[in-house]
Amino acid sequence: MEDGEDESSSLIFIVCGVAILYIALVKSERSHPNLRHITSSANQGYILSFLDALRALFQGPALVQKGYEKHRVNLFKLATLQRWLVIVAGTQYIEELRKASEDDLAPIDAASQPDMSRYLLRHHTTPNMQQESFLTRHITQNLPFLTLDIKDELVAATTDSSVLSSASEDWKEICGRDLVVPLTARVVDRIFFGRKFARNKRYSQLSLNSMIKGLDFKRALFLAFLPTSFGNFLSWFSRSRQDEQQIQKILTAYIREEKENVSINDVNHKPRDVLFQVIHNVIVGGMTGVESTLLSLNSTAKHTLALAFGHILYDLATNSTDTGFMRQEIKDLVAREGWSKNALDKMYIADSFIKESMRMNGIFTLPTIRKAVQPFTFSDGTTIPQNTFIAVPATARHYDDTLYPSAGTFDRLRFSSSHEKGVHHHCSTSRTGSVQYNLTTSTTEYLPWGIGQHACPGRFFAAIVLKTMLAHVVLHYEVKFEDRKRPPNIIVDMNCFPDLEAKIFIKRSKGEGNGGIGRT
Ligand code: HEM
Repeated sequence: MEDGEDESSSLIFIVCGVAILYIALVKSERSHPNLRHITSSANQGYILSFLDALRALFQGPALVQKGYEKHRVNLFKLATLQRWLVIVAGTQYIEELRKASEDDLAPIDAASQPDMSRYLLRHHTTPNMQQESFLTRHITQNLPFLTLDIKDELVAATTDSSVLSSASEDWKEICGRDLVVPLTARVVDRIFFGRKFARNKRYSQLSLNSMIKGLDFKRALFLAFLPTSFGNFLSWFSRSRQDEQQIQKILTAYIREEKENVSINDVNHKPRDVLFQVIHNVIVGGMTGVESTLLSLNSTAKHTLALAFGHILYDLATNSTDTGFMRQEIKDLVAREGWSKNALDKMYIADSFIKESMRMNGIFTLPTIRKAVQPFTFSDGTTIPQNTFIAVPATARHYDDTLYPSAGTFDRLRFSSSHEKGVHHHCSTSRTGSVQYNLTTSTTEYLPWGIGQHACPGRFFAAIVLKTMLAHVVLHYEVKFEDRKRPPNIIVDMNCFPDLEAKIFIKRSKGEGNGGIGRT
C-alpha cells in the first residue's frame, strides 16, 4: 500500500514537473514585444490567450478567419503557442509589407517559425540560401526543356503504378494517397536527379517511404504542440530524416563518382536535370555541401506539390460533372503544339481550375511571415516593435466576398474568364493571355505563393508540374467521391492539408485503353 502511494506521489511529482517545465519553455518563447496597442482577435490576458493558442493548433484557420472578419481593413494580433502574431488584414498593410526592405521586415527560418508544423514541409528552411536560389533558378530557366521530361516520367509512373495501370472503365475505389504520392515523387525526382535515379527501384522506394512518413499529419500535430527548440531537436530523429540521410549518402557517392567521369564539355551540353548541373558546379565552381541543399529543396518540392495536387484532385472529384471544356482545350493544344511549355501556358481552363483550388484550399493559411528586425511603422502610424512576427492571412482574404464575388463557391472558370477578358488575340492559334491572371502571379488578393521578394521561387516549376498532372488525369481518367462531397481537410496549426487517406473513385475515360496513356 505504502509502495503504491509512493509510486503515485512520484508520478504526480513528475507530471507537475513536466507541466511546469513545458509552461516555462513555452512562456519563454512567448515572451513578446509590447503589443498592447494592437487589438487581439480573442483574449488578451496570458492564461486565456494561452487557451486560445491551444485552440489555434486545431482551429488555426478558423481563428484567423474570425479575426479577419472583425478587423478586415486593419491589423490584429493572434495568440499562438510560441508567440503573438500580428496579422495584417487590410490591403494597404499587405502592400507596405510587400514593399518593405529586408532590413525592416526579414523572412524567418524554420527554427523560429511560429508555426512549428510547417517544419514538416521544411518549406522555409534554408541550409544555404545562395545554393537554393541557384538551384531554383536553374529549374525555372530550363522549364521549356524539362516539360517533356515531366510528362515522360508521369507516363512511366502511371504504368508502374498498380492502382493506375489496373484502372478500367468500371469505377474502382482507391486511397487518394496511392495516386498522389507516387506520381509526385517520380516527377520531382526526375527533374532533380534525372531518369537514372527516378527509375531506380532502391532509390525510388526510399524516396517514397520518406515522403509517406513526412506526410504523417499526426507527427506534425505533435511537433506543433512542442516548443520550437525541442521540436527542432526531435525532428532530427524522425524516420523520414533517417531515410533522407540514406538518400544523401547515395547522392554524395554518386556525385563523387560522376565528378571523375564527367568532363566539363559534357556537362555544358546536358543542362537538364538539376543533379547534372550540380556536378558541373562542383567541378567548375568548387561548390561544396550542395547535397543537403539539393535534398532539402527536393523534399520541399515533393511535399508541397503532393499536398497541392491532393487538393486539386479532390476538387476535380467534387466538380467532375463538367470537365468536358477543360479536356477539349487540353486535347486541342496538345494536338497543335505537343506537350510543350507553350501549350501548357495556354491551358487557361486548367490554369484557372488549379488557381481556384489553391484559392479555396491553399495549404498555408499564413504563407508570408516576416520578423521586424527593427521597429516598423506603417503609413497610418501604427508601429510594430522589433522582434514582432507579422503574417498575411491568405485564406481569409481568399474567402472575402468583397475581393472575390461568391467567394465560398468553387468556380472553376473564375480566372479563365478574367484571362479571356485580358486576352489580346483570342483566336485559336495565338492566345496570349495577360500575365496578371496567371496562376503564378502573386498579388495582395491572391496569396498562396506568399508575396514580395521572398514569394515562392519554385512556383513556375510547381505550376507546370501541377498542370501536367491535372491534364494527364483529365485526359485519361474520371474521378469522383461517392457522394460528390470533398472529405474535410486536416488542420494542423495554420496549415490545411487534404486527407490523403480518403477514398476516391477512379475509372479510365472511355476509349482510353492501356495503350492510350501518354498518347496525348
Ligand atoms: C504548390 C506548391 C508550392 C506552394 C504552395 C509554395 C508556397 C510557398 C510559400 C507560401 C513560400 C513563402 C513565401 C513568403 O515568405 O512570402 C515559399 C517559399 C519558398 N518556396 Fe515554395 N511553394 C510551392 C512549391 C515549391 C517548389 C516546387 C519549390 C522548389 C522547386 C519551392 C521552393 C521555395 C523556396 C526555395 C522558398 C523560400 C524562398 C525565400 O525565402 O526567398 N516551392 N513557397
